[in-house]
Amino acid sequence: MAGNLKGRSFLKLLDFTPGEIGDLLSLSATLKANKRAGVSGRALAGKNVALIFEKASTRTRCAFVTACVDEGAHPEYLGKGDIQFGKKETVADTARVLGRMFDGIQFRGFSQQVVETLAQYSGVPVWNGLTDDWHPTQVLADLMTMQEEFGSLKGLSLAYVGDGRNNMANELMVGCAKMGMHVRIVAPKALFPKAELVETVRGIAAQTGGQVTVTDDVAVGVAGAHALYTDVWASMGEEAKIPERIAMLKPYKITREMMAATGRDDTIFLHCLPAFHNHDTDLARQFPDICEVEDEVFEGPRSRVFDEAENRVHTIKAVMVATLGR
Ligand code: CP
Ligand code: NVA
Repeated sequence: MAGNLKGRSFLKLLDFTPGEIGDLLSLSATLKANKRAGVSGRALAGKNVALIFEKASTRTRCAFVTACVDEGAHPEYLGKGDIQFGKKETVADTARVLGRMFDGIQFRGFSQQVVETLAQYSGVPVWNGLTDDWHPTQVLADLMTMQEEFGSLKGLSLAYVGDGRNNMANELMVGCAKMGMHVRIVAPKALFPKAELVETVRGIAAQTGGQVTVTDDVAVGVAGAHALYTDVWASMGEEAKIPERIAMLKPYKITREMMAATGRDDTIFLHCLPAFHNHDTDLARQFPDICEVEDEVFEGPRSRVFDEAENRVHTIKAVMVATLGR
């Protein structure tokens, strides 16, 4: 089970085969069942794990911390401003220092190049907890949630509706195509994913029996979808773009009508969270039209968003155990 991943970094799903992703999902399911049964592991006993965060996080930070503690590791949170990283010291130097002290490093931040440099220089497994380009631990949890709901992934259709060029859209395209799914990106043309990435993903789908559709037509994009997925309209670091994104993405808000337009009664709603679905947050009070999903869908019977959030811990634990564990 995922034994071949020892010592590997987890930087983006593009680096992993469908078999390796399948193994990580199986290990996640085992670890989830163990946790539910009250069985705690010792797979990471004696390990020290550094958690570097340049951007805010609830789920990713808490999942790494609880997964470490569940398996006997010590997590050390290194927030923005806590270390010299990139300001007074190069990323490569910090990587070599942390690699002498820690057994694994999580990085969340802006640049994919930074997490790649950490992996190149630290000499220990590095896990990407989100960059501007990719969010691989999130998509592992999304795949797990769909597998739990539908039994298997091959042949399922997922329509991601919203900002088609952010980290979630990129990673979902790759992850779903690798698992033989039909992934659709439904977005205004100005927010279509990069053509080069779409080509890469089409190449993957050709190998796995998957399919890729990129469209600005909601009706075409959601027809027959097993899962409708959305994310915030402006990602971390893009706050200045909020008014422009509201104008572009309002027609792409997930509504009950859009759920019905799939033509399936078993379609589930997924969101990586955090989500704007009502007006009970500071930003939503400032921008009343920021709302990528109607409250009735978010809170409705087909929403699986909190299962998905819980699955972050099981999948992150699987990644750490597979790459670092005994
Ligand atoms: N989904 C996700 O990554 O959430 P956080 O930003 O809270 O970690
Ligand atoms: N696209 C979002 C994902 C948050 C988990 C962001 O980068 O802010």
